[in-house]
Amino acid sequence: MLLEEKHHEYRERIRAFALEKIAPCAAELDDKQEFISRHIKPMAEMGLFGMVVPEVYGGKPVDTICYSIAVEELSRVCGSTGITIAAHNSLGMYPIYRFGTEEQRRKYLPRGAAGEIIAFGLTEPEAGSDAGATKTTAVLKGDHWIMNGTKCFITSASHAFASIATARTSDEPGVKGISSFILERHWPGYDVGKKENKMGLRGSDTAFLHFTDLKIPKENQLGKLGEGFKQFMITLDGGRISIGAMALGLAQGALDCALKYAVERKQFGQSIAEFQAVQWMLADMATEIEAARYLIYGAAAKKDAGLPHTRDSAMAKLYAGEVGTRVASKAIQILGGVGYYTGKYPAERIWRDVKLCEIGEGTSEIQRLVIARELIKSVQ
Ligand code: CAA
Repeated sequence: MLLEEKHHEYRERIRAFALEKIAPCAAELDDKQEFISRHIKPMAEMGLFGMVVPEVYGGKPVDTICYSIAVEELSRVCGSTGITIAAHNSLGMYPIYRFGTEEQRRKYLPRGAAGEIIAFGLTEPEAGSDAGATKTTAVLKGDHWIMNGTKCFITSASHAFASIATARTSDEPGVKGISSFILERHWPGYDVGKKENKMGLRGSDTAFLHFTDLKIPKENQLGKLGEGFKQFMITLDGGRISIGAMALGLAQGALDCALKYAVERKQFGQSIAEFQAVQWMLADMATEIEAARYLIYGAAAKKDAGLPHTRDSAMAKLYAGEVGTRVASKAIQILGGVGYYTGKYPAERIWRDVKLCEIGEGTSEIQRLVIARELIKSVQ
């Protein structure tokens, strides 16, 4: 798939920004488990917090290929930055734009585009892969909903000024009784758990959200009653493209690192890049990365064309996530002993970061399930 000139230009702009502003502190943020706060302002100025909403809501809209390129190039130097931007845009901003009222859009999107993070509350301790098993409830009392429940693995939970979350609003079994709401962090009864200690993406924030008799004004119901699950699935169709892009960027970062090292490192009187064993690894890494790139941009193009893309985004995320872990592992193999040190070369950080892409926004097994269901549906 040939990209347009605007896509190449956009990549150059984001790449230059990422190299200058994001790359220099990626290792430090990972080491200290420090949230990427220092990047928020410059990224908001670049429009990176409002890529999926129109200008009228403060956004700097780009097509989904450019958006994927942005996540890719940020992740190429810092996975924690990549996931923070991907989750905010795809899972926080997009659903409010897509399903929100005009009033909700005007209230929340400009703040989001200016760099205030919006989080996504779907997963619960007993509703992970089985996202429809939501136990959080919301009961209408007068002109407020009263919400009780717990959400977990919430990206940017401690830093988000608002979140969207699903809750059961009727006794109807299955996913039909699930609705969604926009919540604000300062409301009494909205509590953020302690920051999780993760193996990777340590500059991104992950925590529980606890809701105890949380009073939600009626006007903060998002979309129609009973459609929360469907809205969140539609949201994940887009989100999975961005997690694929994140895996792609991380894989590219690992290849960048391994290629440079292979050319510079001398053993047996020559650069190790001269050895066929290393060349084959580099060739496989580059080929798989390119294949993942095509899947991601293909899914992005379908989304922009308004075509169904559930299967495509699941394929893109599945493939890119698995390529990411393979490529990162090979990069460490090429670096040998120094690749195994923490903080010396980025390959080791990338290896820890990219594993999330086989888990978050649905495990690889869930992507396979989604793809298989779409295949079966197509012949029924
Ligand atoms: N688009 C539109 N509608 C959809 C849909 C989609 N992509 N997927 C499902 N639906 C609809 C179905 O059509 C169905 O509606 P009808 O009853 O009207 O036909 C309804 O939703 C229920 O669908 P299913 O029967 O397929 O639902 P299910 O219970 O079998 O679950 C699942 C499907 C794919 C397994 C889903 O639960 C799932 O995606 N699980 C993984 C959850 C996930 O990805 N979590 C990630 C959390 S976010 C995160 O990690 C972010 C982060 O911070 C990094």
